[in-house]
Amino acid sequence: MSALVFIFQLIVFILTLPIQILHYIGVLKSITNVLFPYFLDRMTDSYNKLMEKEKKSLFSNMSDFAGPSKELRLLEIGCGTGANFKFYPSGCKVNCLDINPNFQKFLSKNQALNDHLKYEGFLVASADNMTPVADASMDVVVCTLLACSLPNTPAMLKEVKRVLRPGGVYYFIEHVASTDESSWMSFFQKVMNHTWGAVFAGCSIRKTTWKDLEDAKFSELSLRHIYVPTKFILVNPHIIGYAVK
Ligand SMILES: C[S@@+](CC[C@H](N)C(=O)[O-])C[C@H]1O[C@@H](n2cnc3c(N)ncnc32)[C@H](O)[C@@H]1O
Ligand SMILES: *[C@@H]1O[C@H](CO)[C@@H](O)[C@H](O)[C@H]1NC(C)=O
Ligand SMILES: *[C@@H]1O[C@H](CO)[C@@H](O)[C@H](O)[C@H]1NC(C)=O
Repeated sequence: MSALVFIFQLIVFILTLPIQILHYIGVLKSITNVLFPYFLDRMTDSYNKLMEKEKKSLFSNMSDFAGPSKELRLLEIGCGTGANFKFYPSGCKVNCLDINPNFQKFLSKNQALNDHLKYEGFLVASADNMTPVADASMDVVVCTLLACSLPNTPAMLKEVKRVLRPGGVYYFIEHVASTDESSWMSFFQKVMNHTWGAVFAGCSIRKTTWKDLEDAKFSELSLRHIYVPTKFILVNPHIIGYAVK
């Protein structure tokens, strides 16, 4: 099996040689940083349609996590264009964080469309080191489709636990590695992982994020593996759920 993976990797490498060279000399990242927000903005509606039911149900009891003041303070990490805003309850105070400042324009557009929320700011920082966010300052942290581009997911989860108040909730949706190592899905994820990462800003299609969540020792963890039939077949295996601090 591993020899076959290697042969296929080699074929893909040769077929995509120009991309590999741009990646190697570091040009690709500066291009994708600018282009990715446009790409994501175009993808958001169709992904949200596929996920409408799941997202609605996942975020349905968010209001239960309001603090003693009945206010709901939320931090969305890797917020991108703000694809989840429409699912948040009215009056929710939303703080945004992303490593890529080029999302600002798209974020502002989505904030204007979702005026049922109160926006508290956009912080450009990495989710695994968000020191400007105070300890225990958030009731809710939301993170969708971020772990794939974070080399150190445990460090990110540690930061999430730090900024959540005790009893606060972390909602997540992530695409992950196939759990069945003997499947074709797993085979092609292995073959394509490197090239995928070169094109999509270091995104890994082989993350076992569910293990990191289990190891993070939240007081409660609810996690399901689901299959989301996107056009980008290799990211179809997903996990969805929430963890309470
Ligand atoms: C696939 S997009 C998902 C965006 C959005 N959460 C959604 O569901 O549509 C991944 C996002 O994570 C951001 N990102 C990547 N690495 C990051 C990091 N280390 N810290 C914070 N954000 C990061 C990217 O800039 C991008 O906006
Ligand atoms: C959210 O509501 C569902 C269904 O009403 C319930 O099963 C689940 O435990 C609730 N989750 C939280 C975090 O309260
Ligand atoms: C998958 O690709 C990413 C991005 O290039 C890389 O960081 C990661 O180590 C790869 N994962 C595996 C398991 O090969």
